Amino acid sequence: MSNVFFKSVSVSGKIVFFKEVMMKDAISPHGGKLINLIIEGKERETLDEKIPSFKKIRLNKREVSDLEMIATGALSPLEGFMVKKDYDSVLDMMHLSNGLPWTIPITLSATEDEAKNLREGEDIALMDESEMILGILHLEEKYTYDKEKEADQVYGTLDAAHPGVAYLYQMGDILLGGKIGLLKRPKHNDFLKYRFDPAETRKIFRDKGWKRVVGFQTRNPIHRAHEYIQKCALETVDGLFLHPLVGETKGDDIPASIRMRSYEVILEKYYPMDRTVIGVFPAAMRYAGPKEAIFHAIIRKNYGCTHFIVGRDHAGVGNYYGTFDAHYIFDEFDLEKIGIIPLFFDHTFFCKTCGGMASYKTCPHDSNHHVTLSGTKVREMLKKGEIPPVEFTRPEVAKVLIEGMNR
Ligand code: ADX
Repeated sequence: MSNVFFKSVSVSGKIVFFKEVMMKDAISPHGGKLINLIIEGKERETLDEKIPSFKKIRLNKREVSDLEMIATGALSPLEGFMVKKDYDSVLDMMHLSNGLPWTIPITLSATEDEAKNLREGEDIALMDESEMILGILHLEEKYTYDKEKEADQVYGTLDAAHPGVAYLYQMGDILLGGKIGLLKRPKHNDFLKYRFDPAETRKIFRDKGWKRVVGFQTRNPIHRAHEYIQKCALETVDGLFLHPLVGETKGDDIPASIRMRSYEVILEKYYPMDRTVIGVFPAAMRYAGPKEAIFHAIIRKNYGCTHFIVGRDHAGVGNYYGTFDAHYIFDEFDLEKIGIIPLFFDHTFFCKTCGGMASYKTCPHDSNHHVTLSGTKVREMLKKGEIPPVEFTRPEVAKVLIEGMNR
């Protein structure tokens, strides 16, 4: 094992030094060990017999995706839904109680009515919305929490119009903390060939001989700016891991099936497929901007990435965050503890005078030279069946979007 120093300049102009650990094997998961809480074999048979007598609670879609991600190690080192000391520590310190960076609470809520029958110390069956039993929770602790404090600390606003805050405000008033076990994988009908657990992506990268892999988070159809930053990043590493989020998103985001289709129609034609892997990220979108950028980066480390792309307004929504808040927040952490190298990108676009993709960092021309379109404008064009400029989106993608939006 050898250590190499890597220098990165953030948009704020500040030079940040990372010690990049070049390892023989894959990059270490957060906390050093990839968590696996899938219960199999004899233990599973015993539990299958006992579980009908357990008390049961029903999880919503986000909680089911969190359950699956905890069990498969995507959220390593978490082994369950957060107990109070971790919840408080994440809110107050942006770290777990064991000192590891963590910025988004992973919680399971219940109403007071549901919670009053549940006793600390007992095992509870966890069901999905169709009442299929997926796993168990060893209920360590029931506790109340302050939703406004969480809204303020995680989302930076108390505004119920923020989709992450809106979700928080409708949660049950009691949190149930404790270790989980997964008995049955949640039922998925979509993206089956793109569903990889962290252990699987790690193996894929290892088999390809990739030591340096850059992860890309997205909740949008691919456009030229995405493609540009992905390929700029790929210039400096061995492989690109496209990891579109397919968990719950707000109502007006483009559905995951259309977004995935947008990737399918261009990958073979424009991407080096021996250097690109695409898989789906099962998480729900929180829209927590900077806090979610840290969360996204750490999770991609668990999937085996060594680098992670953070562009403009990462995981943002409306005007709640500054364009580069998701860059600045990395300065608040010990980057060795984060353990994955963020690759920061300024706002990118096609510049007619440069004759190619560029960013405010690399292009000397003013915005009259740039091809930029607002999301609203693009949606209007697509609704009318108009293809946006090729400098903004590839025509193959525009076609998928027009079909998808006018179905
Ligand atoms: S996100 O909510 O998942 O961040 P989106 O899918 O739009 O939204 O963005 C995916 C990644 O691309 C994020 O890191 C975001 O910052 C970056 N990004 C999107 N558009 C641009 C752009 N024009 N210039 C630079 N980075 C961008």
